[in-house]
Amino acid sequence: MTILVTGGAGFIGSNFVLDWAAQTAEKVITLDALTYAGNRDNLASLAGNERHHFVHGDIADRALLDQLLDTHQPRAIVHFAAESHVDRSIHGPGAFIKTNVEGTFTLLEAARAYWTRLGEDVRSDFRFLHVSTDEVYGSLTPDAPAFTETHPFEPNSPYSASKAASDHLVRAWHHTYGLPVLTTNCSNNYGPFHFPEKLIPLMIVNALAGKPLPVYGDGQQIRDWLYVKDHCSAIRAVLARGRVGETYNVGGWNEKANLDIVRTVCALLDELRPSSEGPYARLITYVKDRPGHDRRYAIDARKIERELGWRPAETFETGIRKTVQWYLDHPAWVARVQSGAYRDWMEKQYA
Ligand code: NAD
Ligand code: DAU
Repeated sequence: MTILVTGGAGFIGSNFVLDWAAQTAEKVITLDALTYAGNRDNLASLAGNERHHFVHGDIADRALLDQLLDTHQPRAIVHFAAESHVDRSIHGPGAFIKTNVEGTFTLLEAARAYWTRLGEDVRSDFRFLHVSTDEVYGSLTPDAPAFTETHPFEPNSPYSASKAASDHLVRAWHHTYGLPVLTTNCSNNYGPFHFPEKLIPLMIVNALAGKPLPVYGDGQQIRDWLYVKDHCSAIRAVLARGRVGETYNVGGWNEKANLDIVRTVCALLDELRPSSEGPYARLITYVKDRPGHDRRYAIDARKIERELGWRPAETFETGIRKTVQWYLDHPAWVARVQSGAYRDWMEKQYA
């Protein structure tokens, strides 16, 4: 048995591939375009593993997809590949439309052609699992109930609009063509291999370098946080037992204001790697807010808990401690991802 994972060299995809290789006997084909966010180092521990095969390529390359599907005959596609950073989508939305919308369309068409050709015995077991985000639902007021799977789509950024479009395509390919799809909409992940353009890893690497910790606006925006390994276990549960055509919200029941997240990271660093200059919170700096910044996300994860028996294994306290420790233990990984392109982005976004 084989699965095809797109975007498997990125943050969540690489955690998923590593867990899959450790927990199953199945072969994994990772397809990744290695954009600035893709990093083969993340999968270095699989070097020489015959059950893992890495392919450098684009999900918008139909000929490559046809060849990969025909050659490896996967029983499932788990689709992570995307442009994923909201701030980058504000500076340059084109890449988000190209990969998240057109790329997902191309992947769906290749999957449909492949699935149609499959023999009757395996066709009904095939699955296309689309990994999406809670951001498609828009922003919540402070007292509004958390997002359920039937919450209307109200995307507010080019990123979330492109993901919402991809969710709609996936839904339509099931409704119209019968493609056996599953969709997950997850909240903010954190953990190992998180690229330091996103809030938590950026705060860790900046604090360690004695640089400002940029908090957008008043820092009171709320996100729900889930340790990445718990997202991976949710995806495994949906792939194994999810009802075809259904959407599952995935979240950690951990609503936190950004400022509280930053203060928690600072307190952990004060404990684990104290600075001679004083507490890391001295570096907190309020900067201009993100345009169109969503104020609050919250996930109602009762459906996946009820139907599939999934629960997160980590609390925020255990997960964030593991995460900070991981960054302290991997200085070489941190140094390598801070390339010239990374420095250019930091200059453009924060200067
Ligand atoms: P990431 O940016 O870290 O990784 C994306 C990966 O996709 C990279 O390896 C990149 O090289 C690859 N990629 C980009 N364009 C490609 C293309 N055209 N063809 C092939 N590969 C391509 O993203 P992430 O944070 O790991 O997110 C993975 C998925 O999960 C995304 O679909 C994202 O929308 C979704 N998601 C992320 C979060 C989160 O908190 N990070 C939460 C919910 C959902
Ligand atoms: O909700 C799920 C989404 O979470 C995923 O779909 C996205 O791919 C992922 O990037 C993430 O989006 P966010 O915009 O919530 O994540 P980010 O880490 O960029 O920002 C988290 C919050 O922190 C957000 O309110 C903006 C704020 N922030 C972010 C950065 C990078 C700051 O205050 N300062 C910063 O420098």
